[in-house]
Amino acid sequence: MTPPVSAAVFASGSGTNLRALLDNETPDGPYRIVVVISDRKGVGALERAEAAGRVARTIEVGGRPPEDVAAETLALLESLNVQAIFLAGYLRLIPAAVVSTFRRRILNIHPALLPAFGGTGMFGKRVHEAVLASGTEVSGATVHYVDEEYDTGGIVGQWSVRVFPGDDAPALAARILSVEHRLYPAVADHVCEAWAAGRDPGPFRLSPAESGPALEQDSASL
Ligand code: GRF
Repeated sequence: MTPPVSAAVFASGSGTNLRALLDNETPDGPYRIVVVISDRKGVGALERAEAAGRVARTIEVGGRPPEDVAAETLALLESLNVQAIFLAGYLRLIPAAVVSTFRRRILNIHPALLPAFGGTGMFGKRVHEAVLASGTEVSGATVHYVDEEYDTGGIVGQWSVRVFPGDDAPALAARILSVEHRLYPAVADHVCEAWAAGRDPGPFRLSPAESGPALEQDSASL
């Protein structure tokens, strides 16, 4: 049996996407989360990691040279033989040395349909406020590779979500977050199966059962 890909999750907040990734793990599955790293002490993501028996660490970023952050991060990842990184609500730019060491082995989830509504400063409710202000009727979630900029790496998978008249940012955020919890584990399985087999993952596509009715289903459930 092929061993699972050893993964790190980086998170700054409550870590509901981390929870979804943990819940999706199986003994024979394609990945295993071995460590959760946060730039903030005491966040929900670290508590979830500890509860799941995983290594939980804080690596502070503010006020430090990126080279120091990179060296500390790489030393921890190497000590645990980490092969892939999933960003799940991690609000810091990944240092260039970490990006280059893990090129096309770092994924992020963003709560909009990139390349729209991404980039510096586009996180949390600001994303949804910009979507609502634009008048678009469709938003969604995107999983993409991480490069040296915010939200510019190649897209692996997306899931569309309707924007309804009368939506406010919290309502839209909640609708998209519920889709994120299904998209990210599915993409993590997709890429890790490919990596374990020595293949390039290529794009992730929702099955017709998901991509068709999902929009209706999501709208009906709210
Ligand atoms: C999610 O909306 C994700 O798309 C964004 O940050 C949020 C993290 O939420 N990058 P959580 O901490 O996983 O609940």
